[in-house]
Amino acid sequence: MPLLALAGISKRFGAHQALNEVSLAVEPGEVVAIIGRSGSGKSTLLRVINGLEEPDSGTIEFDGRIQEPTPRQKRALRREIGIVFQSYNLFPHLSVERNITLGPTVAKGMTLPAARELAGRVLRMVDLEDKIAAYPQQLSGGQQQRVAIARALAMEPRLLLFDEITAALDPELIGEVVRVLDRLAQGGTTMVLVTHEMRFARRSADTIVFMHQGRVWEKGPPAKLFGAPRTPELGSFIEAILSVDPAANQRTGDRIVLPGEHLGRDGLVPGSRQDR
Ligand SMILES: Nc1ncnc2c1ncn2[C@@H]1O[C@H](COP(=O)(O)OP(=O)(O)OP(=O)(O)O)[C@@H](O)[C@H]1O
Ligand SMILES: [Mg+2]
Repeated sequence: MPLLALAGISKRFGAHQALNEVSLAVEPGEVVAIIGRSGSGKSTLLRVINGLEEPDSGTIEFDGRIQEPTPRQKRALRREIGIVFQSYNLFPHLSVERNITLGPTVAKGMTLPAARELAGRVLRMVDLEDKIAAYPQQLSGGQQQRVAIARALAMEPRLLLFDEITAALDPELIGEVVRVLDRLAQGGTTMVLVTHEMRFARRSADTIVFMHQGRVWEKGPPAKLFGAPRTPELGSFIEAILSVDPAANQRTGDRIVLPGEHLGRDGLVPGSRQDR
């Protein structure tokens, strides 16, 4: 049984159809990477999944239960589905530890000692146990993003959503965040990620979803989608990625570079965001 099943989800903003009959199932332990052009509905889809946005039509089934848009069910759903954004949204006046223990103690009624023990555990998962007493502004962007991941993990969600969490990071900081994502993927965390990190998507995703004009345009295993796109839209999306900087692709081996993508030290392509 899938952990999450969307059926016929549509969402309109004024005259704009942001999501158009989206159906998608996510199995326990599955890693789904969502790719697509700007405005194709990727963020809206994630927001619908965890109840931040209400669909106009369609159903969301989580763990076999159809979700009703009542405040109570939404609260319950948000405890089970974590989301991490591009902007980490840490509380600047609270220590790393308190940023992490706040959710479990307030929303789940965990005792502070238990939550602190948990904070240590999730910080180890993102290699930041030594920063437990630090404040956000004392950390690099990559470290803050990893704290944000740890904070989401501390809620022990059954599904984790990530919306372009490396997009705002300096190139040399992307690698450390991607490593954490890799580790979570290998550890069996169920994840849906909107990502521009194509190498990560290829390596770690079980399924790639290509969104176009609010629809799931193509879906399948990475090798199949990247190797043999069925639609001209996906074909030209991939081509656009590859044509940004052909020299870059030679230098990065199988690395696919997206327009405006910054590459980390491992990739070493002088990227720019101007064409985003
Ligand atoms: N709250 C909103 N009000 C009005 N329009 C919105 C709202 N949220 C999204 N949209 C529109 O819906 C479409 C899909 O937006 P969405 O943010 O899901 O795209 P995206 O694929 O995440 O793009 P990007 O890659 O730029 O983040 C866009 O045309 C956007 O302008
Ligand atoms: Mg988006």
